[in-house]
Amino acid sequence: MSWLPSLPDPASIVRIFKHTRKGPPMNTSNSSPVAQSISPERVVRERYSQAAQQREEALCCPVSYDPRYLAVIPQEVLDRDYGCGDPSAYVQPGDTVLDLGSGGGKLCFIAAQIAGPQGRVIGVDINPEMLAMARSAAGQVADALGYANVEFRSGRIQDLALDLELLDGYLAANPLKSAAEFGALEDTCERLRRVNPLIAGDSVDLVVSNCVLNLVPEHEKPQLIREVFRVLRRGGRIAISDIVCDEPVPGHLRNDAELWSGCVSGALEERRFLAELEAAGFYGITIDKWESEPFRVVEGIEFRSVTITAHKGKEGPCYEAGQAVIYKGPWSRVEDDDGHVLLRGERTAVCAKTYDIYCSAPYRDHVIAVSPHEQVPVAERELFDCSRDRRRDPRESKGAAYELATGGSAAATGSAACCSAAGGSAASGSSAAADSASCCSPGAGSAASEPCATADSSSRCVPAGSSESCC
Ligand SMILES: C[S@@+](CC[C@H](N)C(=O)[O-])C[C@H]1O[C@@H](n2cnc3c(N)ncnc32)[C@H](O)[C@@H]1O
Repeated sequence: MSWLPSLPDPASIVRIFKHTRKGPPMNTSNSSPVAQSISPERVVRERYSQAAQQREEALCCPVSYDPRYLAVIPQEVLDRDYGCGDPSAYVQPGDTVLDLGSGGGKLCFIAAQIAGPQGRVIGVDINPEMLAMARSAAGQVADALGYANVEFRSGRIQDLALDLELLDGYLAANPLKSAAEFGALEDTCERLRRVNPLIAGDSVDLVVSNCVLNLVPEHEKPQLIREVFRVLRRGGRIAISDIVCDEPVPGHLRNDAELWSGCVSGALEERRFLAELEAAGFYGITIDKWESEPFRVVEGIEFRSVTITAHKGKEGPCYEAGQAVIYKGPWSRVEDDDGHVLLRGERTAVCAKTYDIYCSAPYRDHVIAVSPHEQVPVAERELFDCSRDRRRDPRESKGAAYELATGGSAAATGSAACCSAAGGSAASGSSAAADSASCCSPGAGSAASEPCATADSSSRCVPAGSSESCC
């Protein structure tokens, strides 16, 4: 047996070099920090080069996709489905979607149809054979759809700024002749990342991935999550289907080339995966799917498919706009990633940014939004005072001078579901707070108005899809 296979290939050396220069990576190993004696990148490349040429049953998980989207996809791509979930369900029309480890391109071609001609889809993969298959299928899919909105790029998903085809071009013209030239190569990589990034920062609405993160070398997984965060726009989302494990993976399993390249022993421990997302700055992190039946069980460790969703966009200052939310329950209290504690039934004061976040997915169904009677113009908002009493007194929302009285015949004769128009217009602000989630408070911010439809001209809110005003 040769000693050479344990050496990383040149591309890995470039990345390792970069990491060591910037300081030690966060320790995310699933178990003891034993160095891997296999080259994870090499075993993955070899396995997926083979799997691009010939379907490999051991890499296939049974996943049912919406058959409407499969008709335009060439059979050889359908046959090379090595995913373990279906994150395409999270794509919205008009989205710019990035698929990490796009393989033969199946998920990209499904996403392309949901995103539609106004959207676009970029698949990134490291494997030349997979890229070749996906690129040749892209023309056929575009012909069948009548529009072309998918492209495939060569890169490592833990380094989404570096375009490997540009780097290949550079290396062809400037082959390395000695270790002394390494520094110049690193400079070139930095310049390529800066001037011609494979994926620019803040450019993507939705990052999807299907059974790939586990294949990224252990020490590069935190960098991978940070890269995903970098490329997303504010308000962007992730929907990642991957294999996770319920216990730490011992070193000897991580050094098993077959288990590693087979999407097993590189799996992140499920709680670590969520912690990495939190550390990178994501919010609303949710285990949306969790397969009860494991994909594999090895030495008693269960490896299963999950789909995780999360959002980007909580960065930035907090301003006071007089807003509050009421947590509906059923838990007596909940806490978000930033330490905001919501007590069931309590009007909790929040800053304008948190209010908008809570009025959007994935929180909106759990809270009632309470905005003040008198909106605070954006230009007049002061910094939110985090030391204030967390409770927002109803009087704070309504205003000290609020003395309205309603009821009597109008309310008594109105339907149980809706107030009369006269009662509604006067009382809408205060009663919106106590209303169901299908009714927003008037004048709420854009995110806040998402679950409902609009505030009408009299600032009563109109539930989505309804012509009735609600109180
Ligand atoms: C299990 S397959 C999944 C392919 C595809 N997502 C699917 O659902 O069929 C893993 C894919 O990820 C690619 N891959 C593995 N590690 C990668 C990395 N670090 N950067 C980019 N692509 C990678 C492989 O080349 C392969 O095409």
